[in-house]
Amino acid sequence: MIHTGRHFLQIPGPTNVPDRVLRAIDQPVIDHRGPEFAELGLAILSGLGEVFQTKGHVIVYPSSGTGAIEASLVNTLSAGDRVIIFETGQFSNIWRQIGERLGLEVDYVPGSWRQGASPHELEARLSSDSRQAVKAVVVVHNETSTGVTSRIPELRRIMNRLRHPALLIVDAVSSLGSIEYRMDEWEVDVTVCGSQKGLMVPPGLGFNAISEKALSANKNAKLPRSYWDWQDMLKHNQAGFFPFTPATNLLFGLREAMKMMKEEGFANIFRRHIRHGEATRAAVRAWGLEIVCEEPLEYSHSMTGVFTPEGHDADRLRKIILENFDMSLGAGLGKLAGKAFRIGHLGSFNDLMLAGTLSGVEMGLRLAGIPHNEGGVMAALDSLTPAAQVREPAKVAR
Ligand SMILES: Cc1ncc(COP(=O)(O)O)c(C=O)c1O
Repeated sequence: MIHTGRHFLQIPGPTNVPDRVLRAIDQPVIDHRGPEFAELGLAILSGLGEVFQTKGHVIVYPSSGTGAIEASLVNTLSAGDRVIIFETGQFSNIWRQIGERLGLEVDYVPGSWRQGASPHELEARLSSDSRQAVKAVVVVHNETSTGVTSRIPELRRIMNRLRHPALLIVDAVSSLGSIEYRMDEWEVDVTVCGSQKGLMVPPGLGFNAISEKALSANKNAKLPRSYWDWQDMLKHNQAGFFPFTPATNLLFGLREAMKMMKEEGFANIFRRHIRHGEATRAAVRAWGLEIVCEEPLEYSHSMTGVFTPEGHDADRLRKIILENFDMSLGAGLGKLAGKAFRIGHLGSFNDLMLAGTLSGVEMGLRLAGIPHNEGGVMAALDSLTPAAQVREPAKVAR
């Protein structure tokens, strides 16, 4: 089928890259050991502090988010170290797999994939750890496979109350730049991220933001590392350079994306994502479908996971929507495969893009013959422009 107009990329990342960022990337490659690059490197490395809300170092790898996960572990831990990882969904599964492959002793706290990391479970585990054998607690802030956001400050408060010295390592791949995140205030030790979601840059950059405590842990961490080594990076970063060839043109894009974020203002970015999350859930409820996240305090502002009714394949719905309306939605991952689909509403996004996205879902539900109520899109429009904001229609002159 020939499609006209723009493809709707409404997966929860990679997200739509703004034209300004694409234009910034579309430049001749420069010498990564020359003065122009040093300027770029220094501007990015200092500017990232505001994005992560940290005064600490932020390391940028030419890598995917998964690479940045590995980097966070090999730089802070040693073989046999005990690590608590909360099962929140498919991405926490990846953390577990990487941790186990590296030889860590992973205590994988079971979860339903419908709620975030349990403060209660953390308290139980850490309070019974009298020998302080647990060296790190890992939490996926926004679980992209489900649309559930864990409450990091609450988890940190428990660690502090128990005076437990474990590192707090947080995956902010699908929250940073779209859901409020305060690394220093929340006392996170390592934040892991990727470029392709809230940061509005194509895939290919991985991040580790590092606290002083993580930097100390790095001195004693014995897991083998070479490419991922923080010390090599930090040494070269001082002058704006990298120990190997960086992803120069993605860094051009990141610089522009950071400029855009500053122009909009982080508070406005977070408010925009909250509005779009609320409007999306209003649509899902009006359709009579079930939201994957069970805990309203943990609704994700960057994406929404939606169950299709029993006996109706979510992948068939996605296929129908792709073929008919040229829109990509996120597949159900892992144990949610075929049972749920995911609507991404993060990154470079606005009200009309959301209205189009939800229209595509509603038309897809009709074509797929999935039982639902009409009016989801209207419910979303009402949420975006509540009645109080809508003026009485003007009298039409005869
Ligand atoms: C929460 C989360 N963690 C980790 C990853 C892995 O990132 P990547 O696919 O860039 O390796 C993703 C990717 O979607 C993610 O959403």
